[in-house]
Amino acid sequence: MIDIEKEKLLDTLRQIIYKLTGNYYPDERLKMLEYKVSGIIKEMMTSGKKTEDIVDQIIRNEETQRKLINLITVPETRFFREIEQLEIIKRYIFTKLREPVTVASIGCSTGEEAYTVAMILKDAGLKGKVIGMDINEIALSKAKEGIYSTKALSQIPVSYRKYVEEGENHIKVVDEIKNMVEFTKANLIKSEDFERFAEYFQIVMCRNVLIYFDKQSKKKALENIKISLKEEGFLVLSSTEMLTSEFKEGFDAVRFEKFMFYRKKT
Ligand SMILES: C[S@@+](CC[C@H](N)C(=O)[O-])C[C@H]1O[C@@H](n2cnc3c(N)ncnc32)[C@H](O)[C@@H]1O
Repeated sequence: MIDIEKEKLLDTLRQIIYKLTGNYYPDERLKMLEYKVSGIIKEMMTSGKKTEDIVDQIIRNEETQRKLINLITVPETRFFREIEQLEIIKRYIFTKLREPVTVASIGCSTGEEAYTVAMILKDAGLKGKVIGMDINEIALSKAKEGIYSTKALSQIPVSYRKYVEEGENHIKVVDEIKNMVEFTKANLIKSEDFERFAEYFQIVMCRNVLIYFDKQSKKKALENIKISLKEEGFLVLSSTEMLTSEFKEGFDAVRFEKFMFYRKKT
C-alpha cells in the first residue's frame, strides 16, 4: 500500500518537474529521481496528506517549487569543458564577430562555462559580454561568487591561470573577468525570460542541457533560444548533441572542422 502511494507520488513529482522545467525523467532515470527527491517524498508521506493535496501544495508554494528545482537539476560542469570545441569557436566564430561579442551560457550551472568564455574573449583581445542563465538558484549564487575549490585549477590551461587568483584552498576569478559576466535566473521553457534578451546574443551556448528535455520541451527551448539570438547568431551545443531535422527549423547547420554549429537563419 505504502509502495503504491510512493509510486504515485513519484510519478506526480515527475510530471510537476516536467511542467516547471522541461526536464523529463524517463522510466530508466526514475530511480535517480527517487533518490534526489527522497527527502521530499519522506516528508510528504509522513505528513499523512493525500497525493492530490501534496500536488496542490507544490503548485501553490513557490518555495517548495524552488527546492524541487534545485534538487532535480544536474549541475555537473567544469572550466574549459570540451576545449577542442572552444578552440574552434575562438578561431572561426569569436574573431569574426562585431564587438562587444555577446554570448549567453544557458544552463550555466555554477558559472565555469560563462567564465571560460570570458577568459577566451579577454585573451583574444576582444571586448565581450557574457550572460550566464540557469533555473537553479543555488548554482547561480555560487556562479556569482566566482570562487571554486583549488581542484578546479587543473581544469584551466596554464596560459589562462592568470585569470584566477589562488587562495589557501580556493581559486577566485579575477575582477577583469568577473566584470565581463552577469548571471540571471531564466527558465528555458518560459518565453518571457528570453523576450527581455530579444536578438541580443551573437552566440548562445547551451551545452549538456537539452539532453534532459523531451521532444516537446526541447522544441520550446529552441524557440526561446531563437528569440534571444541575433540573425546569423550561433547556437552551440555539446559536440555529442545534434539537432535532427525536426528540431532544426530556423537554423542552418554549419560545420567548422569536425564540429557542428547551428546558425539562426535570416
Ligand atoms: C549539466 S549542467 C550543464 C552546465 C554547462 N552548460 C556545461 O556544459 O558544463 C545543466 C544545467 O542546466 C540547467 N537547467 C536545466 N533545466 C533548465 C531550464 N529549464 N532552464 C534553464 N536552465 C536549466 C540546470 O540547472 C543545470 O545547471
